[in-house]
Amino acid sequence: MSSITFLPNEKIFSLNGENYSYVMQIKDGYLRHLYYGEKIANEDISSLFPQFLRAFSTNNFINDSFDTFSNEFPTLGKGDFRNFAFLIKTDTGSRLTDFKYEHHEIIDKPKETILPNLKGGKTLVIYLKDAISNIELNLYYTPYDKGVVRSARIKNMANTAVYIKKISSFSLDIPNNNYELVYLSGSYARERQIETTPLKPGLFEISSLRGTSSHQFNPFIAIKEKHTTEFSGNVYGFNLVYGGSFSLSAYTDQYDYVRLMGGINHADFSWQLNPKETFITPEVVLVFSNQGMNLLSQHFHDLYRDNLIKKTKLPIVFNSWESVYFDFDEEKLLSLIDKSALLGIEIFVLDDGWFGNRNDDTTSLGDWYTNIKKLPNGLKPLINRCKKHNMGFGLWIEPEMISPISELYQKHPNWVLRDSRHEPIQARNQYVLDLTNKEVIDYLKNTITKLLTENDISYVKWDMNRSLTENCSLTLDADNMEETHHRYMLGVYELLQYITDKFPHILFEGSSGGGGRVDPGMLRYFPQIWTSDNNDPISRSKIIYGTSLCYPLSTISNHIGDEITHANGRQTPLEIRTKINTLGPTGIEFNILNQDLSILEKVKTKFTDYKIWRNLIIDGDLYRLENPFQGDIFSFLIINREKTKGHLVILSSNITTNDKTYHTKLKGLNPKKQYLINNEKFFGSTLMNVGIPFRHSFGNYMVKSYYLEETL
Ligand code: DGJ
Repeated sequence: MSSITFLPNEKIFSLNGENYSYVMQIKDGYLRHLYYGEKIANEDISSLFPQFLRAFSTNNFINDSFDTFSNEFPTLGKGDFRNFAFLIKTDTGSRLTDFKYEHHEIIDKPKETILPNLKGGKTLVIYLKDAISNIELNLYYTPYDKGVVRSARIKNMANTAVYIKKISSFSLDIPNNNYELVYLSGSYARERQIETTPLKPGLFEISSLRGTSSHQFNPFIAIKEKHTTEFSGNVYGFNLVYGGSFSLSAYTDQYDYVRLMGGINHADFSWQLNPKETFITPEVVLVFSNQGMNLLSQHFHDLYRDNLIKKTKLPIVFNSWESVYFDFDEEKLLSLIDKSALLGIEIFVLDDGWFGNRNDDTTSLGDWYTNIKKLPNGLKPLINRCKKHNMGFGLWIEPEMISPISELYQKHPNWVLRDSRHEPIQARNQYVLDLTNKEVIDYLKNTITKLLTENDISYVKWDMNRSLTENCSLTLDADNMEETHHRYMLGVYELLQYITDKFPHILFEGSSGGGGRVDPGMLRYFPQIWTSDNNDPISRSKIIYGTSLCYPLSTISNHIGDEITHANGRQTPLEIRTKINTLGPTGIEFNILNQDLSILEKVKTKFTDYKIWRNLIIDGDLYRLENPFQGDIFSFLIINREKTKGHLVILSSNITTNDKTYHTKLKGLNPKKQYLINNEKFFGSTLMNVGIPFRHSFGNYMVKSYYLEETL
């Protein structure tokens, strides 16, 4: 059980979870961070953090200076020259503020705000105030068993507007312990590759200015002690619950403290806060593990599965995109539906190309009615055929976008994100709709509602295929223009909240050119996200591995693609594709009309097996046994919470002729129970200490998978 305690004499707050403590103190009116890490006793630890007067430091305190003070939410202009968490410009033009403790309370976590958030839990709210400017700063802390969720609010109690130039979700000072920073970087079709870099004095930042959380950097960082491995050592992870432009940074200062910080990217950002208005930051999730990266990930997975993500059954889908792209008609789709039904597919998904006049990517986004040249009878015959086979029907949409060649653009050229003078930039031949404009949001609410009401749809793939460029809107005035990208995200969240509430029976899958918007903010509405447009199982194993650092397998959607991967031309046998691309919600994405029966039979068998262990993906604990970023071997083991069932996959992607024998040592089993694996019985202790042998000495690839089950 998590807890919040306050020692009134020492003015110390202590947040505790299963394995962590997070301690703060009010000192001279300021909120000072003391400790975050392995769980400790609830006692006064302030004397263990002595402060000294330092040369060339400001000295407004008797024995202290902001230069070294670990402020829970530091700002600029008072002698702290490090990275600052916020900056507010008041009516005088001054950016100086002086926030001091007023009071605190423990409340039930506020349910929904305009931003996605984790649910449940008791929340500590610490109220700080700048009495001179009459502005309030409220810091929110919700301790869960597995981690802490933080956010901040600024309330303008003055009579004039103020401007927020920067506002982070959190700031945290930690004494450096030879930390290395871990983050996820990548690109289109190469998402979430793990990078590690030592921390040196100075600022290290990852960020997005694309209006999305991006393919390039995920809103996640971790710091780990140098010798931390997958299963041992201390590591702290930070993940923003936000799908827009963000920044996460680590600033190592002159006295070897690390200041971690993150939130909305403040580059090209400003927010006008009028009297009585409140600005709410996105949440950030803080997780500590004393048992390496694997436990860090398990904590993130549990937090998200228990408090953020809607439960689904992970239906197996057929997706038309890489099967037929834009080239289909009713007859072809009906044949695909019939064939899908034979393979154990549960939902048939019609991807891009079914609407307006869409025959390639140059037109029709915004015209969300059936392309009658391709589908003269609409969607109904397809839906009915799916029903006949007891399958659901899924549909692709890209509601946030508009093609310049579309009826919608003819009617509403002013609905795109742009300024009043420059031509807006196109990407994939499309513009971004101005979701800061209420009229646009209402239009989308009505259009999507109509589409989903008139058609019996059980799955929606919500795509978003370009970055935001112009941080400008035709409906915002000069003082509010730099609010555009954040307001856009608020518009996306409002729309998603509305649609997902209205159609609770529909499974919504997120996508953004593959995995360009994979973050906890989107997971609030999309229980699963299309991870990448790269279906090559070798690349995919790394993408899944990186994504799993903070996101549960149940959210990492993968499809079995063609023998020659469309994204990179790599040729792989079906066996590898079926074993790797089923480590998450799964499906097929190749043309099944022109395949040999033997191939289809194998896929069918694979899906029958998958149905036996897919609950492990929904609920199980993940153990990453071999890291493909540190060698050529990838291995995942997923075990149910009762430790009675498991699924193990080992992939080797680089042949060593006449190779040695490796042993993959399993984890997380009950040492005293016997398991049936590959028709043999072994105790958990044996499987975890002796391991499963494998060699890769012939052929391009070697893949093995095992199902294990407790036996008597
Ligand atoms: C990008 C997605 O990642 C693909 O799967 C596909 O849906 C295309 N968009 C369609 O345009």
